[in-house]
Amino acid sequence: MRVVVTGGLGNLGRAVVSALQDGGHEAVIASRRTGVDLRTGAGLAECLRDADAAVHTADSLRPWHWKTVTLGGTRTLAETAAGLPAPPHLVYISIVGVDRNPYPYYRAKLAAEQVLADAPVPATVVRATQFHSLAAVMAGMRLGPVAVGVRGLSIQPVAITWVGRRLAEIAVSSRPDGFTRARELAGPDRFEAAEITDLVAAHLGKSAPRRLEMPPLGATLKAFAAGVVLPRDDAEIGGERFTEWLARQGSRLPRR
Ligand SMILES: NC(=O)c1ccc[n+]([C@@H]2O[C@H](COP(=O)([O-])OP(=O)(O)OC[C@H]3O[C@@H](n4cnc5c(N)ncnc54)[C@H](OP(=O)(O)O)[C@@H]3O)[C@@H](O)[C@H]2O)c1
Repeated sequence: MRVVVTGGLGNLGRAVVSALQDGGHEAVIASRRTGVDLRTGAGLAECLRDADAAVHTADSLRPWHWKTVTLGGTRTLAETAAGLPAPPHLVYISIVGVDRNPYPYYRAKLAAEQVLADAPVPATVVRATQFHSLAAVMAGMRLGPVAVGVRGLSIQPVAITWVGRRLAEIAVSSRPDGFTRARELAGPDRFEAAEITDLVAAHLGKSAPRRLEMPPLGATLKAFAAGVVLPRDDAEIGGERFTEWLARQGSRLPRR
């Protein structure tokens, strides 16, 4: 099958492209570096024409892109697909808890999900928990020598390679009639943030740092502390464990 991967040169996109190619499928990368800009729609229709599916991983963590790329880019993708004689199945990666946290990036992801729910194209939303690298970053926040965390925060991180594989599998499986949601994706182990901090310190050959637990002030931190980033009971669990991922890393961990 021919599958477009938006953001196919990004961290998750690369995992989707590899999984598609391993399965004998054609992966077409759509990102600014390949001449496709989701903010304007440039190059998109040409890319999507004749595609059976499109896995939508393109995004930006820069706050000024949340309206134009996270939400606007998804809208452009849905509108362009809907204008084609045979729209591809759109598979969108979202995040566990976007519907239960007022964090503005999560709000934009939730609005993007809604764009797909309203679009006249086959679409599947797949929510995943934090990737292992991001969990390590979240647990590694420092104020000088002291590790800083939010009291009550737990994370169930997931392997990006497995999420990429599941997205590829969903894209090449039978397409839904309209809008659908896949089960949430999460890794096998749940940690308190402090446990990840200590695991990362041990990996780097350091002793466990002193830890400052901030009270969860404000609606966003309260939501994180209340567990909205944890998967629901019926989530699909899989992929490499955090400790296995960590053991494969060198002394410089990915920055996100
Ligand atoms: N990190 C996590 O823990 C986590 C957890 C769950 C879900 N997710 C989701 O996973 C997705 C991918 O994350 P990631 O870490 O792989 O991101 P990433 O490495 O930053 O990749 C995003 C890609 O999007 C492309 N892009 C940005 N703006 C674009 C535009 N205007 N038009 C076309 N392409 C554009 C970029 O390529 P160019 O520069 O070539 O355009 C970039 O390679 C996001 O949707 C995120 O919400 C992440």
